[in-house]
Amino acid sequence: MSSSYDIVLRRLRRVFDQFGEGTDPVLRPSDRSDYQVNGIMAVAKSRGENPRVLAERVVAELDLGDLASVEIAGPGFLNLTLTTSFLDTQLRANLSDERLGVATTTGRTAVIDYSAPNVAKEMHVGHLRSTVIGDALARLYRFKGYKVIARNHVGDWGTPFGMLIEHLLDLGEEHAVATLSIGDLNTFYREAREKFESDEAFKERSRQRVVLLQAGDAETNRLWRVLVEQSVAYFSEVYDALGVTLTPADVVGESFYNPMLADVVRDLDAAGLLVESDGALCVFPEGFTTREGDPLPVIVQKRDEGFGYAATDLAAVRDRVSQLGGTDLLYVVGAPQAQHFAMVWAVARAAGWLPENVRIEHISFGSVLGPDRKMFKTRSGETIKLIGLVQDAVDKASLALAERSPDMDPEQRRVLATQIGRAAIKYADLSTDRQRDYVFDLERMVNFEGDTGPYLQYANARVRSIFRKLRGPWNAGDVHFVLAHDAERSLALGLLAFPEAVDAAVTSCQPHRLTGYLFDLAQRFTSFYEACPVLSAEEPLRQERLALCALTARTLTLGLSLLGIDAPEQM
Ligand code: ARG
Repeated sequence: MSSSYDIVLRRLRRVFDQFGEGTDPVLRPSDRSDYQVNGIMAVAKSRGENPRVLAERVVAELDLGDLASVEIAGPGFLNLTLTTSFLDTQLRANLSDERLGVATTTGRTAVIDYSAPNVAKEMHVGHLRSTVIGDALARLYRFKGYKVIARNHVGDWGTPFGMLIEHLLDLGEEHAVATLSIGDLNTFYREAREKFESDEAFKERSRQRVVLLQAGDAETNRLWRVLVEQSVAYFSEVYDALGVTLTPADVVGESFYNPMLADVVRDLDAAGLLVESDGALCVFPEGFTTREGDPLPVIVQKRDEGFGYAATDLAAVRDRVSQLGGTDLLYVVGAPQAQHFAMVWAVARAAGWLPENVRIEHISFGSVLGPDRKMFKTRSGETIKLIGLVQDAVDKASLALAERSPDMDPEQRRVLATQIGRAAIKYADLSTDRQRDYVFDLERMVNFEGDTGPYLQYANARVRSIFRKLRGPWNAGDVHFVLAHDAERSLALGLLAFPEAVDAAVTSCQPHRLTGYLFDLAQRFTSFYEACPVLSAEEPLRQERLALCALTARTLTLGLSLLGIDAPEQM
């Protein structure tokens, strides 16, 4: 089934193909009519014609049948108003369509790199954003029909592991594991670092340990695995608390690419791209220079022969294209790594590992700020524990529930508080344009009013409560949408715009396109519900309004689920 937007757009395209000189018509939702058509002015310009005259010719050719009426406005816009019969057809189709009109894409594989915390280090708010945005994208892409492969590119390799393993031995394995399993990763890492900086003997032991690790020494590798496993188990707890779909099976850390790194170097060399600089093996991709104009290197192999972060990412690109068959490679990583990725991909492209038809994109995001609008850290400058933030949100939600519904069963309250608390955090993150920074403000996030997760959950639960009052199953039967009231029509148009909102969020990787849509829909519903009594209406109006309610609840529930946000039936 096609969305109303698609159907109208297709008809318009047919006409634009005759006149359009390659210009695509643009359909914008508008206040004055349902859609405004843009593009005629651009075409008129390129043909040297009067836009109004051209608009008339477009209208004459445009066969909208009984889909919409059309009016020329201004210097060359078209205003389209969808007919009620068309809205009726579309709404009725949605009643029996699980996907609510969202079309699927076939034959594409999205490899989504997200979350990616570092072993034996606390997950910080940057990882929160990557995790929440990445998980929403994974759900959205999956729903669109992509095969989705999540890659949790955890930092599980490199020189710090020498000191971490030595520290683990100093503490005694059992004690160390106990520390790590309560999630006290910050302390563990800090203690190791402090010793490394103040104790020469420890530093030396750490260095030797790195050598053993790289040489594949069995006991060293076992200890390394203990660190990795403890950390991954801890990350999984955080994912559970957040309601994120990542599992240990998605963890494909930096170490996974170790066996491929020698080939990366060999093949770059064979392609004539490798240059020795200061004892390190580098590639200087075209177009990257320092402020002084000197070429910037991607360091593939360091002077000490170790491989760095960039080498691993080169191997990862290659693996994701050739082994996983990725057609869309997405990297949900903070903005500061933009240059790193741009350079790595330039090298991969030069080496022929990244074909033109593979889409690769840095899904960059801004920072989470504290109340002082500076980077969100504890007073002593440490990273803030994510799990603590989620817990705080859940506690706040629990208090709010106790106040709103003092008689609620404690178990029900506990479950709901979890759903609301994490919705609050996720929604606040997802509803901000990801490129922007935002202030972490629990007060605002857990609020049941305003553009918040709890508000949308509540809106959904409120619609559902209408059906509970029926005390029996409801089905749409042979309902017809007459949409006599403006508020009904406005809600109907909102409902039918769902596919565009999903598509916009998918193509631009901007979940806020979907949150914005859902918030708007909830508001349309509120206006409708204030103006149009449902249960007390006469038939067949009552059935029509119930059908609008049913579609609203389904749209909100599905929309929230695509963002990874629970939609409780009752609140
Ligand atoms: N572990 C890195 C960090 O904490 C993020 C890794 C991102 N993914 C990648 N393929 N480089 O900053």
